[in-house]
Amino acid sequence: MEKQLVTIYFDGSPLSCDPSKSILDNLLDNNVKATFSCKKGTCLTCVLRTSHDVPKKSQDALKPALIEQGYFLSCQTMPIEGMEILPSEQNDLFIKTTVKEIKQLSGHVAQIFLTPSENFNYRPGQFLNIKNPDGEVRSYSIASTKVQANDTLEIHVKKHQFGKVSNWLGDEVKINDEVEISGPNGDCFYINDQPEQPLLLIGTGTGLAPLLGIMRQALSQNHTGDIKLYHGAVEDDGLYLTDELKKLSDKYSNVEIHLGTLKQSDNKDIVCGSINDIALANHAELKGWKIYLCGDPQMVQTTKQKAFLSGANLADIFSDPFEMKTPVTLD
Ligand SMILES: Cc1cc2nc3c(=O)[nH]c(=O)nc-3n(C[C@H](O)[C@H](O)[C@H](O)COP(=O)(O)OP(=O)(O)OC[C@H]3O[C@@H](n4cnc5c(N)ncnc54)[C@H](O)[C@@H]3O)c2cc1C
Ligand code: FES
Repeated sequence: MEKQLVTIYFDGSPLSCDPSKSILDNLLDNNVKATFSCKKGTCLTCVLRTSHDVPKKSQDALKPALIEQGYFLSCQTMPIEGMEILPSEQNDLFIKTTVKEIKQLSGHVAQIFLTPSENFNYRPGQFLNIKNPDGEVRSYSIASTKVQANDTLEIHVKKHQFGKVSNWLGDEVKINDEVEISGPNGDCFYINDQPEQPLLLIGTGTGLAPLLGIMRQALSQNHTGDIKLYHGAVEDDGLYLTDELKKLSDKYSNVEIHLGTLKQSDNKDIVCGSINDIALANHAELKGWKIYLCGDPQMVQTTKQKAFLSGANLADIFSDPFEMKTPVTLD
């Protein structure tokens, strides 16, 4: 049987759409150049505008000011007959920043400091979206706090082979260059409601960035409960800023740092194994803990389930799966 199509209007032009696919996928099928990355409702790079009603999940993660202007996630919304859609407005979303400093860390990670041209009111651990000169947009988590870094934003970027934005940031961007950002986004940040509550922070790779932001913020707000940070990588060089982490654990008696790698390390301070398993083995009972999980999406998903089964309240588990764009063609 032939599929029933619906017609939507994108920037005034009619497009035939498959109603069983998202608006984003329909735009791509119709060769419309649309910005996107994860297609899972996480990165918020696929926003468009409409005056039509959209499902709650299409706007849940957006800021009220954007919802008011009709913004919605095109990867989470199905087309409806007659729906009129407009592209996003650059000025609604992006502001300019200037690159202040770049440090190359181990494991192909660059630590980049950006100074925004206007007030950027973020909470450490949230993420911002960065646009490269080709219009590709990707998400990077914020490691700085306003207290520790003044108004400068610190991000950690791992270069990926063929990666469009990470390699641009890692190799091409120079000090004093202009970089456009939008956000801040996400709810993975420290909440100062119970300063005595123990915190368990587990991250892989640059999943350390939001965890560092959360830990720095908790310490600046005199968190008294234990803070156990577990950072994992495939091998030694994927662990970075280890000196800074050590300094924090030396300075604060409630901070404990654990490092783990999948490949056996010569360093006796690095445990062999997957970091989430190491953390969960050390903390079999998680009732009353606040838990933050960042980095590899598979690790985040399985650890969330296990933490819940170990007694953690779902409302106390915050996560940022670093979902990546799946390449359309592997050329
Ligand atoms: C909420 C959130 C927070 C994040 N925070 C961070 C962070 O703090 N730090 C960080 O480094 N990352 C973070 N990420 C991931 C980041 O957004 C990007 O996905 C990552 O930097 C890769 O982007 P890219 O443009 O370089 O790669 P893309 O161009 O998007 O490529 C995606 C993947 O496909 C592979 N690929 C692309 N083209 C080809 C090809 N032709 N052949 C074979 N393989 C190919 C690349 O190697 C890469 O692994 C976060 C993601 C999310 C959703
Ligand atoms: S939220 Fe739609 S592409 Fe990521």
